[in-house]
Amino acid sequence: MRERLVISVSGKGGVGKTTTTALLTRIVTEQSKRSLLVVDADPVLNLPRALGVEVPDTVGSIATRLRKSIDDGAISGAVTKQDVLEGEIFEALIEGDQYDFLAMGRTEGEGCYCFVNRLLTQILDRLSQNYEITLLDMSAGLEHLSRRTNRNVDILIIVVDASRAAYEAALRIRDLAKEVHIEFKKIVVIGNRFPEGMEEDLHSKLEQEGLQLIGMIPNDDDLAKANYQGAPLTELSSDSPAVLAIESIAEKLGLLSDATLLKLLGKSS
Ligand SMILES: Nc1ncnc2c1ncn2[C@@H]1O[C@H](COP(=O)(O)OP(=O)(O)OP(=O)(O)O)[C@@H](O)[C@H]1O
Ligand SMILES: [Mg+2]
Repeated sequence: MRERLVISVSGKGGVGKTTTTALLTRIVTEQSKRSLLVVDADPVLNLPRALGVEVPDTVGSIATRLRKSIDDGAISGAVTKQDVLEGEIFEALIEGDQYDFLAMGRTEGEGCYCFVNRLLTQILDRLSQNYEITLLDMSAGLEHLSRRTNRNVDILIIVVDASRAAYEAALRIRDLAKEVHIEFKKIVVIGNRFPEGMEEDLHSKLEQEGLQLIGMIPNDDDLAKANYQGAPLTELSSDSPAVLAIESIAEKLGLLSDATLLKLLGKSS
């Protein structure tokens, strides 16, 4: 049986998480037959535009409506709440020809959403069982680690750019994951938009921290133009530098072949 893989993309604000997720989505749909669920876990919702996906409803807005119904006494009983939420969440799932898409969005209003948040995590866990690959675009903060949204993630990708802050955030993410006892099978780092010639230095610095550099994405003018025009990254030419770089990263991550995945996870085939 194939490995079922949940991959989350994290890192400091603005380093290229959404870009990485969108480009990985593109490469997996173009070059692999695996079923794919893509989740925008960032309430800012940048990923739909990068992918050219329309999002009518988010999990968060559905949960907010549910919360109102609970407050109004329209729904009662824990089991019913769970059933209602689960049923409705599936309405937020956008089923595409090549992959399915879910936008988490945010819950609105005051007070504790512990119940709803816990349910969302459970539902995401359950949903991801239906796909060979689940890709999560995370928000810049670290709350998702302490909230354990990352609980069942196999591979944590940390994106860094050439800033010190991005590097330090990467170490912090690694440490925090340990503190909250999230055991990723693998943590890898992608260097985005580094000046040329810095790969080796980054590689050895990360190695000393026990982190593996899996690849570099160069600064890509085509990508910048696509972003400026609001065009999805799926329209980038397949020989754009960033697309080529992601292709090699996807291969190394085992997204395109099982043998590479087993090697990455330190298992023999
Ligand atoms: N390799 C690259 N070449 C050119 N532009 C890039 C590259 N990577 C990212 N960008 C641009 O940098 C900006 C930030 O990238 P992106 O939105 O992917 O970062 P992010 O980490 O998801 O940010 P946030 O923390 O706000 O979610 C975007 O405008 C994106 O188009
Ligand atoms: Mg983003």
